[in-house]
Amino acid sequence: MIDTGKTAFYENVRLSDDGDSVIIIDQTKLPNEEVYTELKSIEDFYHAISNLQVRGAPAIGICAGFALAVEAKRLSLIRDLSEAQFYEELHKAKCRIDSARPTAVNLIHMSDRVEKTALMNAGKGLSEIAAECLRESRLIQSEDAEMCFKIAQYGLSLVKSGYGILTHCNAGPLAASRYGTGLGALFLGKERGYDFHVYSDETRPLMQGARLTSYELHRAGIDVTVICDNMASIVMKQGKINACFVGCDRVAANGDTANKVGTSGVAILAKYYGIPFYVFCPSSTIDFDCSTGDNIVIEERGEEEISGLYFKKSVVPKGVKCYNPAFDVTDSKLITAIITEKGICRAPYKESLSQLFGK
Ligand code: MRU
Repeated sequence: MIDTGKTAFYENVRLSDDGDSVIIIDQTKLPNEEVYTELKSIEDFYHAISNLQVRGAPAIGICAGFALAVEAKRLSLIRDLSEAQFYEELHKAKCRIDSARPTAVNLIHMSDRVEKTALMNAGKGLSEIAAECLRESRLIQSEDAEMCFKIAQYGLSLVKSGYGILTHCNAGPLAASRYGTGLGALFLGKERGYDFHVYSDETRPLMQGARLTSYELHRAGIDVTVICDNMASIVMKQGKINACFVGCDRVAANGDTANKVGTSGVAILAKYYGIPFYVFCPSSTIDFDCSTGDNIVIEERGEEEISGLYFKKSVVPKGVKCYNPAFDVTDSKLITAIITEKGICRAPYKESLSQLFGK
């Protein structure tokens, strides 16, 4: 655990000192057990990401960067491996990691970054190339922590003490680094004496809101109440919500935002009730190559996550189909602002995002 002196955060994804492995907190076991798992092979990383042991767009990006760096080091120790063979094997590993989950763009951005680092150092010898990959992967993580802190500062400027905040899924420290993205302003506000009343959607089917968001906020002493996803409308109508805070998995150039399935419904309700809907987005989650949300691939996961999770027997009659899209896209028209580490963007997002990031 890292103790900043104010809020104590878990080290969710940690590269070992020798660069041979990565230790993650297994998010599938939370909140009941704190289990740490060591990942060494590309298959270990692939399974940890696809099974959501490590999850949240920035966290899987960091994990993907580490995965390639650990693999680069392993390859560099193979006797008589040529540089050409090294790059071929590293690329195979990258393709495998990239296929673990399709929606969060951080995964590909960060594996690209480490592979490019390896290519840029061609000719220096395999051990030096591997050392550069490890350096780059550590940099990815420290940059993420800095981005999260800046996003938290901007986010805090949008709210007042006493606010009721609705959030969906988990965009806290477990999903990123240190402060997290969508919850960062809440942790920072707590440190600075703000009082918030947070409503956390349970987030069916995998319950990230009930299991992870409430766990993180409660540990930090922030008032949090879990509601079922279908209760968002009534808490808004009852005047309990002043703002909605969510993270994101991929933001298209026009501001359309993919996040955990159910997010777009929250945004539609927020529009109806006149409540601001904020998306917290590190630049690593913006995909300028993707013009609109229509081009974002939505991950589809197994039926058993709907029919069976947490129940001894299936809750759905045998033979009945389940449809399990894991993300949805919120139309940029529903988003009040996108909060990045460089500042707060407002519509029209195509212009405001490209201006802020010089794209
Ligand atoms: O399927 P998950 O749990 O990885 O989905 C994660 C989300 O949708 C988060 O809201 C998103 O990654 C934001 S992370 C700061």
